[in-house]
Amino acid sequence: MKRFIFHIAIFLTLLASKTAAQISPGDLSTAHAKLEGMSNCTQCHDLGDKVSNNKCLACHKEIKSRVDKRTGYHVSKDVKGKECASCHSEHHGRNFEMVRFDEKKFNHTLAGYELTGAHKKVDCRECHKPDYVDDPNLKKKKDTYLGLGQKCLDCHEDYHQKTMANDCAKCHTTEDFKPATKFNHDKADFALVGKHKTVDCKECHKMEVKNGKDFQQFADVPFKNCNACHDDPHRNHLGTDCKQCHNEQSFASTSSLSKFNHGKTNFPLKGKHKQVDCRDCHKMDAATPTNVFQDRLGVKTNRMRHLPQRPTRGQIRDGLRWLPQRKLLP
Ligand code: HEC
Ligand code: HEC
Ligand code: HEC
Ligand code: HEC
Ligand code: HEC
Ligand code: HEC
Ligand code: HEC
Ligand code: HEC
Ligand code: HEC
Ligand code: HEC
Repeated sequence: MKRFIFHIAIFLTLLASKTAAQISPGDLSTAHAKLEGMSNCTQCHDLGDKVSNNKCLACHKEIKSRVDKRTGYHVSKDVKGKECASCHSEHHGRNFEMVRFDEKKFNHTLAGYELTGAHKKVDCRECHKPDYVDDPNLKKKKDTYLGLGQKCLDCHEDYHQKTMANDCAKCHTTEDFKPATKFNHDKADFALVGKHKTVDCKECHKMEVKNGKDFQQFADVPFKNCNACHDDPHRNHLGTDCKQCHNEQSFASTSSLSKFNHGKTNFPLKGKHKQVDCRDCHKMDAATPTNVFQDRLGVKTNRMRHLPQRPTRGQIRDGLRWLPQRKLLP
């Protein structure tokens, strides 16, 4: 019987190869143990010939798909043009490790992903672990280096809880999340001007706990008018368009007052009045901002001094009107 099998074996190998009658040079590694036996030789070998890369790849779709996409270590200059067998030998017994490389000396850039900043100090297996792998087949293999994504969100939690763009790298580098060195506030919807440049971020972007986690509110901070953040000491006497009279340098500064559109008041400034300083008609006492421009009594006296009786035609052309005294009383 033994003899018979032997003859069959010789016959089969002769059939498979004209040149060398092949007998397996040794047991296959554990990973390939199921491929032991004469009927499986051609899973890896071409008929009577050497190992075929294509046959390896026919089974190893996880490698094939990456090679096809021109991504990952197996398309790097290290691997290019080499036989699979030159790195993954076989027939050295069950305990042989087919994947052998010095992890500490591995040039990670060959993987198509450079380790930069803080990542250089992170242990390989802090990144290469099943938690970060999506593919269910690769997730099961705890030793694999495949299956990771390159996007920050593939591994990092979204600190901003979906309030900011998903493209974290727009604002962050791998050096540190804090500060966000690539973020430029001038490109946000609200540029920081004047004194705002030195205000602590937290004064406008409140720290809070959201869904049980530390969170800072960056998006959706109202800013349409200054009074979105600043109290209105004028008690809305002067409307909400604070920018007409204020800028971000100082609320005490009056340099912006000239931008005020007096045409919208009951008394449009015309002619020579356009050159008159606000203070000449209005009492502007910084100590009592509630009263600023509410001094209709002062206005009255000024106007009465200018216009003791009905105006002349020229004065009317200049926009001056005589008003009965009762109308000017507060
Ligand atoms: C899982 C794939 C695989 C299977 C199955 C397999 N081999 Fe191999 N075999 C290899 C690899 C890889 C090498 C190359 C080893 C090296 O170069 O270090 C090799 C090398 C050889 C060699 C040495 C000569 C050469 O071509 O380099 C012989 C002989 C051989 N195999 C015969 C067989 C026979 C016979 C069978 C079936 C009983 C078989 N092999 C099954 C992968 C396989
Ligand atoms: C018939 C399918 C099949 C063929 C052909 C095959 N393999 Fe495999 N290979 C497997 C399976 C199954 C495993 C174990 C599961 C896994 O790791 O994917 C494996 C594992 C491996 C591993 C990982 C071993 C480890 O310890 O993690 C390497 C490397 C490998 N094969 C290389 C090769 C090479 C090189 C060839 C061609 C010479 C080849 N394989 C041919 C099915 C195959
Ligand atoms: C900060 C996370 C991180 C660390 C730390 C890290 N890697 Fe990676 N590694 C990756 C990412 C991401 C990829 C995937 C690149 C791709 O395929 O797009 C990768 C790919 C690889 C690959 C290529 C897999 C393939 O076949 O294409 C190998 C090998 C590898 N890493 C080895 C290591 C080793 C060894 C270490 C430790 C010295 C290490 N890595 C540390 C993130 C990391
Ligand atoms: C220059 C050496 C080299 C060559 C050539 C090479 N590999 Fe690899 N292979 C590696 C290294 C290093 C790893 C481990 C790191 C990784 O996963 O990229 C590996 C890993 C693997 C794995 C295990 C993937 C897993 O599940 O983690 C398989 C399968 C594999 N190679 C198949 C092949 C096949 C098929 C070929 C030929 C097309 C090939 N290799 C050519 C070096 C090589
Ligand atoms: C529009 C810019 C921007 C985007 C996009 C962005 N961030 Fe941020 N992130 C910031 C700013 C600004 C800070 C606050 C930094 C500081 O306090 O100096 C921050 C803080 C953080 C912090 C907290 C740092 C600490 O220790 O307090 C983490 C973690 C973080 N971001 C992760 C992410 C992740 C993950 C993403 C992608 C989902 C992302 N960020 C997207 C701007 C951004
Ligand atoms: C493959 C997984 C992976 C990817 C992709 C990845 N990181 Fe990391 N990163 C880690 C791990 C793991 C650590 C170390 C553990 C930790 O601190 O979370 C780390 C640490 C860091 C650190 C230092 C520690 C800290 O929390 O301050 C920063 C900063 C960082 N990563 C930024 C980024 C940025 C920015 C991106 C996208 C451009 C990114 N990472 C992509 C896995 C990854
Ligand atoms: C004077 C108030 C103020 C200060 C100080 C301030 N910000 Fe802002 N910030 C805003 C406003 C208002 C917006 C616009 C919010 C929006 O678009 O919904 C904004 C937008 C942002 C955004 C973009 C949010 C997004 O959705 O893209 C980030 C990130 C940010 N600020 C970070 C910072 C950081 C970091 C600091 C400290 C260096 C800072 N801010 C200081 C008021 C401020
Ligand atoms: C998103 C909130 C926010 C908006 C909108 C905002 N500010 Fe501020 N501003 C602050 C905070 C916070 C401070 C610092 C604390 C303080 O002094 O009230 C500040 C400080 C200032 C200061 C310096 C401090 C002072 O009292 O002199 C001036 C001036 C100023 N803001 C003017 C303006 C003007 C003008 C506008 C409208 C064009 C405006 N701000 C809109 C939040 C805001
Ligand atoms: C018509 C012009 C005008 C408008 C509009 C206006 N203000 Fe004023 N505001 C003034 C003047 C004038 C002062 C006094 C300045 C001075 O001499 O110190 C003042 C003073 C202030 C002060 C300083 C008060 C103090 O206690 O020191 C603040 C704060 C202020 N305004 C906020 C606002 C806000 C917020 C708005 C919009 C809701 C606004 N202002 C609209 C003219 C205006
Ligand atoms: C020639 C005198 C005159 C000058 C100069 C003048 N105003 Fe007036 N202002 C008036 C009069 C008159 C009214 C109308 C009062 C009324 O509605 O009863 C008025 C009304 C206002 C009001 C409306 C008050 C309210 O409660 O509706 C504001 C605000 C104001 N002035 C700001 C200014 C500013 C800012 C300047 C300097 C750029 C200025 N004024 C210059 C005379 C003047």
